[in-house]
Amino acid sequence: MAALKVLYVFVSALMLLNVQEANGALSAKTQTNIDEANKNGPYLGLVIPNQFEMNPLLQSPSFESSNLTIDFAGRRFRFGAVGEKKVILVMTGLSMINAGITTQLLLSLFDIEGVVNYGIAGNANPSLNIGDVTIAQYWSHTALWSWQRYGKGPEDELPLESDGDYTRTIGYLPFKDFTANVSGTSYDNLLNSIWYQPEEVFPKDGTPEEREHAFWVTVDPRYFNISKTLQELKLEGCINSTTCLSTTPKVTTVERGTSASIYVDNAAYRSFIYQKFNVSPVDMESASVALICLQQRIPFIIFRALSDLAGGGSAESNEADTFTSLAATNSVSVVVEFIKKLSP
Ligand SMILES: *[C@@H]1O[C@H](CO)[C@@H](O)[C@H](O)[C@H]1NC(C)=O
Ligand SMILES: *[C@@H]1O[C@H](CO)[C@@H](O)[C@H](O)[C@H]1NC(C)=O
Ligand SMILES: *[C@@H]1O[C@H](CO)[C@@H](O)[C@H](O)[C@H]1NC(C)=O
Ligand SMILES: *[C@@H]1O[C@H](CO)[C@@H](O)[C@H](O)[C@H]1NC(C)=O
Repeated sequence: MAALKVLYVFVSALMLLNVQEANGALSAKTQTNIDEANKNGPYLGLVIPNQFEMNPLLQSPSFESSNLTIDFAGRRFRFGAVGEKKVILVMTGLSMINAGITTQLLLSLFDIEGVVNYGIAGNANPSLNIGDVTIAQYWSHTALWSWQRYGKGPEDELPLESDGDYTRTIGYLPFKDFTANVSGTSYDNLLNSIWYQPEEVFPKDGTPEEREHAFWVTVDPRYFNISKTLQELKLEGCINSTTCLSTTPKVTTVERGTSASIYVDNAAYRSFIYQKFNVSPVDMESASVALICLQQRIPFIIFRALSDLAGGGSAESNEADTFTSLAATNSVSVVVEFIKKLSP
């Protein structure tokens, strides 16, 4: 009888455990691990899109692993230190939703003093080169659009504009301007125009459910100041004794970067967003990290090494594949120097 009771308790506990693991809520065990880890905080959170960008940091002699990892919701949080600074690394996976989810999990679960996002990016700025590491001051998400119906123009109000849901203040892309090889003099495009929209944000110190809007999100001014001193840093320009970039890569601050869940391999669009928004790095995650940190009031900075001139246009762009790992390694070098310059 007693044995049966013990078995019953054991099976119930097991079922409870399974339910907890299955339903996506924090299990008691994970919560305990998180509480223990937070006793050693605060940490600098390092948010990294992909494996090939994380590995050079894991392998860097400047990264000292504490061998602690905590897995939750399909993410692995890795603990360690760079110099005196305690860090948590987490890989997001590709694109905006993954980057947003992972950054929010990091900030919700752990004691985080600031966030560094780094990796590679496409380049929209023709005066920069493959391998350069950019530090942009402002980031935007440029794929929240109001797609205007055919027949309407820039003078026409957008649907729901009067409710404050959508706006014409940021600007638009008219598809007909990208028409090529027209034989007549008059041409048009049924796709009409897309209008760029700001993101709805809900800052943690605001009223829940009361939206604010954000388009350009500014990186932390102190982090940005410290980053300016990294422009002296020497970067690697060669992958081996014979294969080198044609220009010596550099670290440079730039005005703006942009992100979207879009892989931009199109020269016309690249040159449009450069002229319209003056963006240099173009990637698929940074603005998500920026928008989460903005709402959670956490300082952040983003380092992105340029891997190609989005959509081609230079002789080197054909060699992008060759230099992607070099770009990833250079972004890690900059991150490590940045962390060493942060006071412990
Ligand atoms: C982590 O594990 C490695 C390999 O087992 C070991 O060499 C290292 O000392 C460990 N580090 C810590 C901080 O425990
Ligand atoms: C326009 O047509 C010419 C000749 O057919 C072609 O060589 C060129 O690539 C076309 N240009 C564009 C932008 O499609
Ligand atoms: C950044 O640096 C400038 C000039 O050195 C200084 O005036 C400013 O106070 C600094 N800002 C922050 C936030 O550290
Ligand atoms: C250097 O790297 C390039 C590109 O991967 C390769 O083609 C070349 O054989 C390498 N050269 C040496 C000396 O390893």
